[in-house]
Amino acid sequence: MSKGKLEKFAEVEGFKHVVQPKLEEVFRKDYFLKGKWNSDFFQNNGPITLELGCGKGEYTVGLAKMYPDRNFLGVDIKGARIWKGAKQSHEEGLKNVGFLRTRIDFINSFFTQDEVDEIWFTFPDPQLKKPLKRLTSSRFLNYYSQFLRPGGWINLKTDSEVLFHYTKKLAEFNKLEIAVASEDIYGSGIADEILSIRTFYEKTWLEQGLRSHYIRFMLNNNQPVTELPDEE
Ligand SMILES: C[S@@+](CC[C@H](N)C(=O)[O-])C[C@H]1O[C@@H](n2cnc3c(N)ncnc32)[C@H](O)[C@@H]1O
Repeated sequence: MSKGKLEKFAEVEGFKHVVQPKLEEVFRKDYFLKGKWNSDFFQNNGPITLELGCGKGEYTVGLAKMYPDRNFLGVDIKGARIWKGAKQSHEEGLKNVGFLRTRIDFINSFFTQDEVDEIWFTFPDPQLKKPLKRLTSSRFLNYYSQFLRPGGWINLKTDSEVLFHYTKKLAEFNKLEIAVASEDIYGSGIADEILSIRTFYEKTWLEQGLRSHYIRFMLNNNQPVTELPDEE
């Protein structure tokens, strides 16, 4: 492991706004902050937005600056990536930002019913060969429905045509409400201040000539999401 990574891990350890649970604290059990993120972590009543697979946390930090009355929690398994957003938010004194280092597969150990207001995915791995590992597959959407409040939006920004069309098709198949679906947010002119936040991966893909796709939809919490027949 490079020295840089070790230094970043050590620095992240010292940040009070970064939570790094041990496996035994979350595996098949509830983490102690479940249901208490507002009262015990953010110490306010603002709605909570998750950025799942946040990497360096550009959306977590960017949105937190735009919406000081809301809370933003970046989730990623890689501590050296989280370090960037954690350090920036610490240095800028942002009180409405946190980071959680964990596998998204354990996400239901962390949040209780209606605890989360909105979810963002920014340039997740499209899992071309394993659709059910996609973070917007039915398996994961059914996890999120257990803690995303009714009417809470799910936002996906991706360079991957496959992931974009898969997610759109899955939402349509399940008759979920879709607010926006665009294959080219910059070319179509819909990129507002929020959609114009550029993540580390997005910058790389744009430089290579790829387009940024975006879909915003909501779940129907009364009905489980069913996988697309050809992906099962
Ligand atoms: C392609 S990167 C995108 C990072 C960032 N959102 C961006 O746009 O620059 C995908 C990120 O998701 C994280 N990730 C992928 N699967 C995950 C999982 N199951 N649990 C937690 N993090 C995961 C990876 O560690 C990585 O940082």
